[in-house]
Amino acid sequence: MTIASQHGLVPITTERLVLRPFALGDVDNRYAYQGLPEVARYLYRQPLTREGCAEAIAARAGGTAWQADGDVLLLAVGRPDEPGVIGEVVLTLTSAHARQAEIGWVFNPRCAGRGYATEAARALASLAFEQLGVHRIFARLDVLNTASVRVCERLGMRREAHLVDNDLDGDRWGSEYVYAVLAHEWMD
Ligand SMILES: CC(C)(COP(=O)(O)OP(=O)(O)OC[C@H]1O[C@@H](n2cnc3c(N)ncnc32)[C@H](O)[C@@H]1OP(=O)(O)O)[C@@H](O)C(=O)NCCC(=O)NCCS
Repeated sequence: MTIASQHGLVPITTERLVLRPFALGDVDNRYAYQGLPEVARYLYRQPLTREGCAEAIAARAGGTAWQADGDVLLLAVGRPDEPGVIGEVVLTLTSAHARQAEIGWVFNPRCAGRGYATEAARALASLAFEQLGVHRIFARLDVLNTASVRVCERLGMRREAHLVDNDLDGDRWGSEYVYAVLAHEWMD
């Protein structure tokens, strides 16, 4: 399925937000948060460069396939009354066969503490379960990423695993939680 071309799936409008594919004009807005060290702190990678932001947006400009393992649906999040992008949510199809998807979120710290990440993630999860036929959504996050832990818990996701020293974050051993929710749990 090519999500961006599926009439009616995106944009998604929530109470305060609009979720839509990134456009070429969003590069500076995306770099404004993806380029920050504090935003990348628990992402096991360096902050993105402006060129990296631009390339990722350009690669998706023609639409987003979401049918094979590894396909990514990346949505920009904005407020309907303002220009620009305040963050993003992402859904990666990790197993088409088992209908498993990984969800993620990154927001501009200037817009933190207002529930935007939770609201956008909730809308994306609803799309995944109700429109895309996903069976299970999971998130993996560093145990020190307390803001992200709280997003998972506000969404009603279950902590399924605590992986210990399972990755290297520079010279720090990283430990991660796995949170998940099933379609029937979400829709009950
Ligand atoms: C993870 C991240 C998106 C969380 O952002 P956040 O602003 O804490 O999350 P939300 O937008 O859902 O806001 C929730 C907060 O707003 C508050 N809030 C205020 N108004 C609210 C409203 N109308 N509705 C809901 N919550 C509201 C909540 O009480 C909550 O505060 P608390 O965390 O102190 O309890 C952000 O920290 C981030 O981008 N981090 C860097 C990237 C990252 O690590 N991503 C995760 C990778 S796994």
